[in-house]
Amino acid sequence: MDNLTNVAYINVAYIVAAVLFIMGLKGLSHPRTAVRGNLTGGLAMLLAVVATLFHHGIVDFKCIVGGIAVGAVIGTILAVKIEMTAMPQLVALFNGFGGLASVIVAAAALSENIEATAPDQASTSLSFSIATMASGFIGAVTFFGSLVAFDKLQGLILKKDLRFPGQQFLNGALFLLCLGLAWWGVMTPTSFAPYWLLVLAAFGLGFFLVVAIGGADMPVVIALLNAYSGIAAAATGFVLNNSVLIIAGSLVGASGVILTMIMCKAMNRSLPNVIFGRMGEGGEVASADEVYEGKIKSTSGDEVAMLMDGVQRVLIVPGYGLAVSQAQHAVRDLADLLEEQDITVEFGIHPVAGRMPGHMNVLLAEADIAYDKLIEMDDVNTTIGQVDIAIVIGANDVVNPVARTDPQSPIAGMPIINVDKARTVVVIKRSLSPGFAGIPNPLFAADNTLMLFGDAKKAIHEIIAAVKEGL
Ligand code: TAP
Repeated sequence: MDNLTNVAYINVAYIVAAVLFIMGLKGLSHPRTAVRGNLTGGLAMLLAVVATLFHHGIVDFKCIVGGIAVGAVIGTILAVKIEMTAMPQLVALFNGFGGLASVIVAAAALSENIEATAPDQASTSLSFSIATMASGFIGAVTFFGSLVAFDKLQGLILKKDLRFPGQQFLNGALFLLCLGLAWWGVMTPTSFAPYWLLVLAAFGLGFFLVVAIGGADMPVVIALLNAYSGIAAAATGFVLNNSVLIIAGSLVGASGVILTMIMCKAMNRSLPNVIFGRMGEGGEVASADEVYEGKIKSTSGDEVAMLMDGVQRVLIVPGYGLAVSQAQHAVRDLADLLEEQDITVEFGIHPVAGRMPGHMNVLLAEADIAYDKLIEMDDVNTTIGQVDIAIVIGANDVVNPVARTDPQSPIAGMPIINVDKARTVVVIKRSLSPGFAGIPNPLFAADNTLMLFGDAKKAIHEIIAAVKEGL
């Protein structure tokens, strides 16, 4: 096969892969077709990789085999060891590595180009130079921003959001510096210095943009970093002149932006505030003692079972603690038991409950809870006054009424599930510890709230046993 025919076949394979990527994304848009969508996306990736391997002259098989071996070992260890609750950290790392890959690939392409170009001839195309700088810039912001996001989600060093006077000014200055360095790089395509200085400045920008964002706003940041990693990959596609990378990167970038906008809506934040790292700027919050002292009423599984007697409507609001405790099957058993007593049981789903988009949907689906029982926040809130008992299981920030009542709170304005407006609220958690946003929750001290302290799975089993005993 001559080279021209070879390239034609490769391009056809790339187009088929791109179509499969789009069909895969479409499939992922609904839980029923999600598995098929995932497999379709995987097939597309396989086709794209195989086609690239046939692209002789671009790839060195020794490096490819070495890369696959190292990547497969690290990937397998991570996949086997990772807890479901640590998935968002892993996603943050994946985004970061995507960004780092863009930085390295663009640097390699630039190095090759500099070697191939005589110092006195500036034969590099403008589009190549712009794409290289864009790839290095966005990739470096994504890499360092994602490392900070990983650190925060894992609760390692930067547990609190780090703010200082002049932070916005510093971010603006770093952005302008990056633009200046990119301009210098485009104007001197045979020099390596501007590229690496740009990458360094972009590392700093990534750090300062994400480090200021705290608590409950992290989901938006992760979605945005996901979008950045896609845009960086698309820019790298232009560097390598590789159409499937441009398409796949654009799809990731576009879907990341859509997810960011959905998250912004869910958190009632504006996109410019996210992009410029100005989110959740709260003032002083009340201390836990002020909120809870003398007002907490503990309950037991037996008492909760008694409360169920004669009720018509129960709303279960799951949160991160449900995932930690892996209580989804126990919750399904409780719901089945209550339904046998002719009680209507529904699940109130907050868009950022847990630690990743759709976290609660995935958990409850794993326990075969029918999808039509999962009611979205807005719909739950319209009829919350008619709920006899709201059982909050391991959720905290997503049911914290200060979002509605305290404009100084870091979660001010974030829509919540208004369980405090149900007739009775039972909160299952192990202690009065705060949730991800790190603030006390007056719901626990409300007149109509009872606290059932303990691990979620254990507490639900206690309620189930008590309900069965009373039958
Ligand atoms: P959180 O506010 O984080 O509260 C979870 C609660 O679960 C904690 O207060 C904890 O209290 C309890 N818990 C932990 N382990 C438990 C166990 N074994 N049994 C019973 N309870 C347990 O969770 P949420 O209400 O789901 O809100 C999610 C938060 O995470 C939001 O602030 C959101 O912005 C943020 N976030 C979300 C995402 C996405 S995309 N969903 C990503 C990053 C961050 P105890 O320790 O007292 O038990």
